[in-house]
Amino acid sequence: MSSNKTIYQPNPEFAENAAIKSMDAYWALQNKAIEDYEGFWKTFADEKINWLAPYDQVLDESDAPFYKWFTNGKLNVSNQCIDRHLADKAEKTAILFEGDRGDVEHITYAQLSLRVNKMANLLRNEFGVLKGDRVVLYMPMIPEAAYAMLACARIGAIHSIVFGGFSAEALKDRIEDAEAKIVITADGAFRKGKPYMLKHVVDTALSEGGKSVEAVLVVKRNNEEVEWVEGRDHNYNELIVEQPAECPFELMDSEDPLFLLYTSGSTGKPKGVQHTNAGYILWAQMTMEWVFDVKGDDVFWCTADIGWITGHTYIVYGPLAAGTTTLMFEGVPTYPDAGRAWKMVQDHKITQFYTAPTAIRVLHKMGENEPEKYDLSSLKVLGTVGEPIDPPAWIWYYEAVGNSKCAIVDTWWQTETGGHIISPLPGATPIKPGCATLALPGIMTEILSLEGETKEVGEKGLLCITKPWPSMIRTIWGNPDRYISAYFGDVAKDGKPVYFSGDGAVLDEDGYITIVGRVDDVINVSGHRLGTAEIEAAVAKDNSVSEVAVVGRPHDIKGESIFIYIVLKEGHINTDIKNHINTLLGEEIGNIAKADHIIEVPGLPKTRSGKIMRRILRSIAKGEEITQDISTLEDPSIVEDIITKAREA
Ligand code: WTA
Repeated sequence: MSSNKTIYQPNPEFAENAAIKSMDAYWALQNKAIEDYEGFWKTFADEKINWLAPYDQVLDESDAPFYKWFTNGKLNVSNQCIDRHLADKAEKTAILFEGDRGDVEHITYAQLSLRVNKMANLLRNEFGVLKGDRVVLYMPMIPEAAYAMLACARIGAIHSIVFGGFSAEALKDRIEDAEAKIVITADGAFRKGKPYMLKHVVDTALSEGGKSVEAVLVVKRNNEEVEWVEGRDHNYNELIVEQPAECPFELMDSEDPLFLLYTSGSTGKPKGVQHTNAGYILWAQMTMEWVFDVKGDDVFWCTADIGWITGHTYIVYGPLAAGTTTLMFEGVPTYPDAGRAWKMVQDHKITQFYTAPTAIRVLHKMGENEPEKYDLSSLKVLGTVGEPIDPPAWIWYYEAVGNSKCAIVDTWWQTETGGHIISPLPGATPIKPGCATLALPGIMTEILSLEGETKEVGEKGLLCITKPWPSMIRTIWGNPDRYISAYFGDVAKDGKPVYFSGDGAVLDEDGYITIVGRVDDVINVSGHRLGTAEIEAAVAKDNSVSEVAVVGRPHDIKGESIFIYIVLKEGHINTDIKNHINTLLGEEIGNIAKADHIIEVPGLPKTRSGKIMRRILRSIAKGEEITQDISTLEDPSIVEDIITKAREA
C-alpha cells in the first residue's frame, strides 16, 4: 500500500483539458484576486451570469458584516439554470433520475423547463405563493424536489428544505421559524426495496403547530395510502396537469434571498442560513467548472440528500447552472448490494462522483473488491465532502474506485459558505491524502489565533475566511444579531471581525491546509452536523433527567458518534435509559441524533463556578487517560466514578 506521505500529481492527460491546468494557472488567478479582489469577481460575474439588469457595485462593505454583492443587479436563478440553456441544450438530459428499484428517467432541459414552469404556476396561481413567501420542502430524493426548488426560484419564493430524516418536532420548529406559507411533501418514496412514508410526519408537525401553513402539496411517489386533511392537502399529480406551460420569471435582485437552510450551531436552536440569488449561483456554477471540471457530455453524480447544502449546490443549482447532466438517486448506495453505486457509475457513465467519507468507508468495508467488477473507466474526478477523510479510505477510493487516475477533490466547505472553499483542483493541485490543500482562487483563508494572529506552520488554529465572498451566508433568518455573534464574534484581524468557521485547521510547510475538525460544540456524525446544545435540550425534556452533557466520540465509520452522560433526578431509576433517551431523540430531532452511548452517572465534572468540563468528558468518551488538572473541580472524585461507568458501557 502507498504511504500516506506520497504526493499524487494530477493526471497529465486530464490536466491538458482541465479548466485550470497547472499550479501556475492557479496562482495567476489567485494573485489576480489578491491584487484586485473586486476586479476578479467582476470578470466572472460578467462572464457567467445572465444579467437581466446590470449591477452597480461588485461589493458593498458599508454595512459589514452584512456584505452585499453585485448590488441592484437583476437575474433569475431558474433562468440561469434552465431557460438560457434551451437554445442549445433543450434535448440534453438535465436530470438523470434513478429510483431505488432501478427505474430510470431522463429529464431533458426542455422537459425540466416545462415541469418547473408548471409547478411555478401551480404555486403562484393556485396557492398564491408570491415573491418572498417561504415554502418548506419535506421531500424524498425525487425529481419533483428539484422542480419545486427551481419553481420557487422562478417566482422568487424562498425555499427551506428540511431533510426527510428530521422528526415532526424538528420540522415544526423549522416551519414556525420561517413562517412558511406552504409545505411541499410526498406520500413517501422507496428505500431498500420498500416504501417509506413522509406525509404523516408533516401531519404530526402541523397538528402541533405551524399555523402559518395554508396548504400542503403532496406528490404521489409510492402511492401508499395517506391521511388527507380536506381543504389543506392537495394532490400535486392531479393539479399539475392543468397548469399553463409558461410561467414568466420574477426579476430578482442579486441580494434577494434564494433559500434558507437550517443548520446546527454550537448554541441554541438550529439557525436559518440565508443565501442570496446572484452570489450563490455564481459560485455554485464556478466551482462546478473549476473543482469538478464539468464539461461536454459529463454526467455528474453527487450522492448527498437535497436536504443538505451539498444537495442544494451540487445536485441542483451548480450542475444545472453549468448546463451539465446531474444524477439524482432515490436509494442508498449499498442496496441491493455493495456494488450498487459502481453499477450506476457503469450504467450511466458517470464522470464525476461526489460523496462523503462515511459512505466511502462503508462501501470499502462492505465491498472492498466490488469496484473491480464494474467498468468505472468513465470516471474522471472523485470528490469527498462533509468530514475529514482518513488516508486509508482516501487511498482505497483513489486506487480501487479511481484506478489511480482520477484526482480526489477533498472539498472543505459549509452550509454557510454556499459552495467549496478549500479544495484541490483536479488538473492542477498535487494532492496529499487527507488534506484539503488550498483555498480556491478568489477565496482568502487564514489560520488564526483568537487574537487574530497568524499561526505558524504546524500549529493548530482557527480556520477563518478573511474576506467576504459572493456565496457567503447573508444573515440568519430573523436573527441578524446571531449572525454577527455566531460568525464574526470570535476572531478579529487587525481590529476587523473576520468569518470564523468553527473548524480547526493546520498549515503544512507547503502552505497546504489540513482540517482538524470542529473546535466548537458541534459534532459531525456521518457528515451530519449536530449541535451538542440541541441534543442536550432534547434530552433535558425528559422528566427523569436532572443534568445532561453530550460529546462526540471518534467512530471508525461515522467519523464521530454521540456519547451522552445523564444524571437522573433523585428517586428516578431507569433500567433502559439508552432506548428511552434514543426514542426521545428520534422524536425531538430525528434518527440521525440517536446516540451510540448513553450512560447514567452520579454527577458531571464541574468547576467551582459550575461550568461543565467538557474536555474531561470528551477524554473519557474516547477512553483517553485524563491529563487535565482535576484538582480544581468542585468534586474531583466524580471523575473516577464516571470513568468506571464509561468502561462498563
Ligand atoms: C465539516 C457540508 C473536513 C466541517 C458541506 C464543516 C469537513 C462542516 C469537510 C460543515 C472536509 C465539511 N474535511 N471537514 N472536506 N467538509 N467538513 O454545513 O466541520 O453540513 O464545518 O456543510 O463539515 O457541515 P455542513
